Amino acid sequence: MRKPFIVGNWKMHKFLSDAVETAVRLRKLCSGVTHCDIAIAPVFVHLKVVGDRLEGSNIFLAAQNCSTEMKHAAHTGEVAASMLKDVGVSYVIIGHSERRQYYAETDEMINKKVKAALYSGLNVILCVGETLSERDDGQLFDVVRRQLKHGLEGLSRNDIAKVSIAYEPVWAIGTGRTATPEQAQQMHEFIRGYLGETHGEDVAERVRILYGGSVKPENVSGLLSQRDIDGALVGGASLDADTFFGIISYEI
Ligand code: PGA
Repeated sequence: MRKPFIVGNWKMHKFLSDAVETAVRLRKLCSGVTHCDIAIAPVFVHLKVVGDRLEGSNIFLAAQNCSTEMKHAAHTGEVAASMLKDVGVSYVIIGHSERRQYYAETDEMINKKVKAALYSGLNVILCVGETLSERDDGQLFDVVRRQLKHGLEGLSRNDIAKVSIAYEPVWAIGTGRTATPEQAQQMHEFIRGYLGETHGEDVAERVRILYGGSVKPENVSGLLSQRDIDGALVGGASLDADTFFGIISYEI
């Protein structure tokens, strides 16, 4: 049985005081939650302070990105996965569509980041998803297969156990336009099938596949009631602790 996983991706939002306040409020709200795992991903410079305020709670700390490089070296402006681990991070989001689109991250870079994160002892949330034109052209499964193939290249069965996949159709991110539960389920089933072919059915059954793209308290239950949807990667609706808690306390 896969434990649901709900992740708040704060993107480039919040000043430190607000980040801390939101985390502390969320900690209080979530203190009795056992039905799902929870993580929040603040910006790099807030990780340590927010992480300290979450210590001993049931909320994991996540980062939004990491360097392709594992060795500490002359890479101005980069943050190594091992440094994230060192300040208490448990998960790292890799390959988010905003990174692919605005920062020209390629599948090859994403694969290096996935490996750097895993070899540093972090768990990975690998994002995949098609654009609207790719969907309209009927390429959605080819695109996601390519992102999975390259993103997970060279990973062992043990490595995959530490990876969650987040399916985020680009057209649904921050647009208020959610994939229907059936559209999302169709892709999640495809992703699990792909993992079964490449890494074995038992591994595929254990990997958590999250849906992301305009998830809100009002639509989360419909999505999570689908067989292959194991959680949510939430952007906008995770910025307010009470709204995010509304997602965490979904009912099926
Ligand atoms: P959204 O973002 O919930 O604001 O659509 C999701 C994401 O990009 O992870």
